[in-house]
Amino acid sequence: MSHFSYQNGVLHAESVALSDIATRFGTPAYVYSKAQLLDNFTGYTAPAKGRDALVCYAMKANSNLAILDLLAREGAGFDIVSGGELLRVIAAGGDPGKVIFSGVGKTVQEIELALEKGILCFNVESIPELDRINEVAGRLGKRAPVSLRVNPNVDAKTHPYIATGLKASKFGVAFSDALATYRSAAALPHLDVVGIDCHIGSQLLDDAPLLEALDKLIELIDTLALEGIHLHHLDVGGGLGIDYGSADGQPVPIGDYVSRVFARVDAWRAAKYDGKPIKVIFEPGRSIVGNAGVLLMSVEFLKPGEEKNFCVVDAAMNDMARPAMYQAWMDVKPVVPRAGDAPVYDLVGPVCESGDWLARDRALAVQPGDVLAMMAAGAYGFTMSSNYNTRGRAAELLVDGDKVHLIRRRETPAELFALEMLVK
Ligand code: LLP
Repeated sequence: MSHFSYQNGVLHAESVALSDIATRFGTPAYVYSKAQLLDNFTGYTAPAKGRDALVCYAMKANSNLAILDLLAREGAGFDIVSGGELLRVIAAGGDPGKVIFSGVGKTVQEIELALEKGILCFNVESIPELDRINEVAGRLGKRAPVSLRVNPNVDAKTHPYIATGLKASKFGVAFSDALATYRSAAALPHLDVVGIDCHIGSQLLDDAPLLEALDKLIELIDTLALEGIHLHHLDVGGGLGIDYGSADGQPVPIGDYVSRVFARVDAWRAAKYDGKPIKVIFEPGRSIVGNAGVLLMSVEFLKPGEEKNFCVVDAAMNDMARPAMYQAWMDVKPVVPRAGDAPVYDLVGPVCESGDWLARDRALAVQPGDVLAMMAAGAYGFTMSSNYNTRGRAAELLVDGDKVHLIRRRETPAELFALEMLVK
């Protein structure tokens, strides 16, 4: 069930009319539903109940402190990709002991910080990175827990910019090099080789490629065990898609996917390890927060043209980059639908780029001043926003039942240049 629905002709987040939020807080604004966020998280944790499993929310999807705090209180761990994200986890009251650190370019300072805070694991992507982590750990008198991100060469069948598991990808260690890389890791004195991970891409509607990647990891764990390298956890990455309301179709329900992962893992452990369990880690981002957020915007002008009609809104590519960057199709709904003519418009923002569009060829019955909601905008929306054109970033709000909480206020123009200095 979606927590965004029309009630008495007005689109609501839970029990709050989005038109009221637009009036009170202005637009553009991101609005999140707490209930939707928690439902999605429970989709992962319910089938995992009583098992050694950890859901490490990939916070790059949405790293607002209030969202992190909610998830941390539900027991979430976090998948981070920078020292800044680790500091956010700590600021939100999250447990660094449940943090895994992904990414191809961890700096010495980031590794030091992560070791000092005692993270759960580094997901390592190359031999030079292993060497660097080993060196830093040795210098600090610590041992670094590491997992290797293996590239299983599985086609995720998604947009090329968000497919990461193919041979040509910058991510991970090639499957054919994995064994040799594990041997190198095991030989380094300041590392504990504890796990294996992969992440083959994002917005996967079908879980077949995810399960295929899992099978490859299982194969590798068996090979490593024969070499005396025994892993304690298996991290299947993130990647499960969401329903954007497009023609692409519906994703596999979270619980079905998670149950299939456990069924495979259990059958394998029963066959090869007398049923001895292994910890399973998930790194979902989009499927936790994507459909839990909308981007509200107001119509500024209607601009009919010879070939195209434009609906100019007050949100732009700096607020939501997905259409401009990936040609992503995002659903747009009027908050208070009107009867009458619905001409076909391109929905565009005020930024000075032809690429500044949010939706194309949409039939909309709208007038200037109307509020529109871009649906399923909770993931990779605010976190990818920028200040291009000296535009302050949108406000963020969290709805909980009939309450609205401001969880990030709108930036003011003066704040945008406050860090700059004139040369005298
Ligand atoms: N783990 C790793 C190592 C990742 O790189 C990512 C996402 C995730 C987990 C979470 O994946 P998810 O469950 O959200 O699919 N900006 C793009 C998506 C980029 C994904 C980057 N990595 C978009 O808006 O579609």
